Parts: sequence; structure tokens; C-alpha cells
Amino acid sequence: MDSHPPPTPSLDSLGVLADASARAPHTLELASRHLDSSLVDVLGILGFDESYVSARGSYLYDAAGRAYLDFHTGEGFASLGHNHPGVREVLQAVLAADLIDGVQIHYSPLAGMLAEALSQLLPEGLDAVFFASTGAEAVDSAMKFARAASGRPRLLSCDSGFHGVTLGPLSLVGDEFFKEGFGPLLPGCARVRFGDLERLEAELAAKDVAAFILEPIQGRMVTLPPPGYLHAAQELCRRYGTLFVLDEIQTGLGRTGSWFALEQWDLQPDFVLVGKALSGGYMPVAAMVTRREIFQKAVGTLERSYVHQSTYGRNRLSMAAGLATLRIIERDRLLEHVAHVGAIMRDGLTELQTRYEMIKEVRASGMMIGIELGAPSTRVARINWRLIHMASEGLFPQLIVIPLHRDHGVITMAAGKNDVIKFLPPLTLSESEAGSFLEALDAVLAECHTSSSRNLAVVRDIATTTMRRRARAKLK
Ligand SMILES: Cc1ncc(COP(=O)(O)O)c(C=O)c1O
Repeated sequence: MDSHPPPTPSLDSLGVLADASARAPHTLELASRHLDSSLVDVLGILGFDESYVSARGSYLYDAAGRAYLDFHTGEGFASLGHNHPGVREVLQAVLAADLIDGVQIHYSPLAGMLAEALSQLLPEGLDAVFFASTGAEAVDSAMKFARAASGRPRLLSCDSGFHGVTLGPLSLVGDEFFKEGFGPLLPGCARVRFGDLERLEAELAAKDVAAFILEPIQGRMVTLPPPGYLHAAQELCRRYGTLFVLDEIQTGLGRTGSWFALEQWDLQPDFVLVGKALSGGYMPVAAMVTRREIFQKAVGTLERSYVHQSTYGRNRLSMAAGLATLRIIERDRLLEHVAHVGAIMRDGLTELQTRYEMIKEVRASGMMIGIELGAPSTRVARINWRLIHMASEGLFPQLIVIPLHRDHGVITMAAGKNDVIKFLPPLTLSESEAGSFLEALDAVLAECHTSSSRNLAVVRDIATTTMRRRARAKLK
């Protein structure tokens, strides 16, 4: 693996970087005090409490210079790899040009160019764009525009879907544990099972649903749509006058081997939502793309021209990062690359599945990949499996995630309260990096399948501690 961290950065005259460097050893203490202390606790329990100090390409580096292969990339935020020099060059040039930001009466050519470029990559007619800073804001915009354009109140989404955690998108999210304690959420939101056309039609038939909002491939557990589902769902939406909204915030911009996943099924949605990778790994930027006619119906009068705005939405650095990202994907032929290296990964994982019973299923589209773990067959292993699940849904995959990180320097993620591990490497991942990952996973799986597995002991300890803590909390 690459063991050459980036050079030490040059310092600024206000001392910001020098201070950050001096305080680096206390990063987590600082985070615990002023940011999200429970997340810091979780990182500690799982052994992910290293402080990474720099990043480049497919790797993060800790203070000792150890390289960690990043198969998480902020769920696809750093799709071009970390600190891509091509995006940086554009950002530096834009900063040096003293352009204008934060003036609502001003449009920069950068925003128009990025909107034009996105619309050229999407099915014909999707040519009206609203820029936002986060994926959730793009989803929220589509929820508002769909209601305003259709004059209908209801919004429909899918079980297990994910669309962000601000109050609007959270009302669409398919897993209840994200919502506990935050209600009441938006009225008029309902869900159907991903893949269930009968239920979908039953909901749409009342003709009061403004939009059906879904991910073409569900990101949380990498759930692929059943054959024919997306096309049929789109047809049902057309039949009952419901707008068909594809959330491609995770699947878009090369992740599945095409510009957008919708190309795989030749879909013609009314809205496409883009985010994450559009950042180039640097800037917050997301977009809601729709048809001009819908845009106009929603906010297209002089009186309504200011009702849907966002201070940072069209800022120059975000627009420049988006443009640089699209040009790099095109110039470096990353779509072909993703298809090629993604297939190597999928084949490698399928081969591991033939040797290790722990892998129940491999699900992949390009470089959006998940493996689902299954219950072991031997009696003792099954008891451990049950104990770990009793302690916490979502703990079992740590059996793989923790040693991949600790022993092999590979960062992956468990997908939540289930037995899925997700792999979202940079789209620039090389064949040899894919090979290193498969070798590491092979070694971890081999260890986990032994009767005296140290990995199993570690996760069993976490399970017992969790149960003890829970019992103590109940007694209080
Ligand atoms: C499909 C999808 N939609 C929306 C979002 C929300 O994006 P953000 O975190 O930028 O608000 C995410 C984030 O993971 C996502 O995966």
C-alpha cells in the first residue's frame, strides 16, 4: 500500500493551520466537548478513534504516516479520491479571480455552465436546475416544487429509502429509527415497499400524490430494484399524474458505471437529485434538476421569484468544484474505469462467497457494492451470532469492519441496523488497490471462520459490554 502521506502544508499568516496542527493530538477530546460526543464514544468502542491527519487519492493517513485505504469516501462524497489535484487547481484559480458571491441579484456564468452541463448529461427536457448545499436540501426542494407544481398534497417514498435527515426529507426516510423523538414529521407522507407495484398503484390511484420519490438503487443496503420495477413505477406515475423523482445523490455521477443509474433502465423522470460526488470531494453542493414547465409552475411568476432561495446555493467554489468534477470524470474516462474495476471487485467478492459461508449475498452496480452476512452453520458460531444480534442489530458486520481497519488499514462501513457492509471506494480506485482490498477481506474472513477467532472475541466483548450497560441503564 501507498505509505507516502502528502507533504506538510504551508501555513497561513493567521495561524489557523499551525493551531490545528498543534491541537491535533486532542482532536477527539475537542470533538467530544463541542461536537457529537456520542459518535466519538462509538468510534472509541469500535477502535476507529485514530486521528487522520491528511488524505490523498484513495488513502487517509494517520500521524505516524500509516495509510488507510478508504472504501467509505463519505458515502461517495470523495468519489474522485481525496484532494484531487485537478479540482484543487480549478478552486485555487477561481479564488484568485476575485469573483462575486452572496449577492442574490447576481448570476455567475459558472452556475449557468454547471446547470447546462448537468442537463446535457440527463434525459432530454431536464433543463431547469436549483442549486443547494446539501443532498437533503435538494430533496426538500423537490418535495416543495412537486407540491406546488401539481397542486397535490401527498408525497410517497419507499421503505428502507434514505433521503437525508432535515425535517422534510426525514419524513420520507424509510427506517423508523432515524425518526424517533423528532416527530411530528410532515403530514401527507407515506411509504410503499421498494419493488411493490400493487401497493404503489393503490396509493397513486387516489390522484392526490404530488410525487413518488425514490433512489433507483437503495443506498443504505445496496438494494437493487427488481427487474422491470422502475420502468413500471414510472408508468404508474404518468398514468395517475404523479411526478416521478429519482434521488441519485448517491448513485449519480459515475458511481454505478454510467453518468446516472437511470440510464440502465432508460428512465425519463420528472426530477433528478444530485449531490455528494458533485462536490469533487471539496465543496458542499447539490442540485435539483427538473423540467422547465414544472419549475415555472412552482415558482415561475414575478411574485414567487424569491420564495425558494439558498444563500450558498450557487457559490462560486461549489459551482467550480462541480464543473471540475464533471470534466475530470469525462477526461479520465472514469465511467469505463468504474465498470471495469467494479466488475473485478464484484467477481472477487463472488469468489470469496464460494469459500466463506459468512457471505450470504453480494450486491453490486459499478462501484456501489454491498455484502450481506448470513448466520453461520456450526452450533457454537450460531450461539455467538445470536448473542451479538441480541446486543445490537448492526453489530455483527463489525466482525469484518473492525479487523479490516485495525489489521489491514482498510476503511469500510456497516450499513446500520442490519448485516450489510458497504463498499464505496473512490471511482479512481486502481486494479491493484482493488486487489489489496480483496486480499485483506480474504484474510479477515479466513480468521473469522476459525474456531478460536480473535475477531469474534472482540465483537462478543462489545456485545456483552453493550448488554451490561443496557441492563445498568434500566436499573437506574
Ligand atoms: C440517496 C441520498 N439522498 C440524500 C442524502 C442526503 O444528503 P446530505 O447528507 O448531503 O444531506 C443522502 C446522504 O447519504 C443519500 O444517500
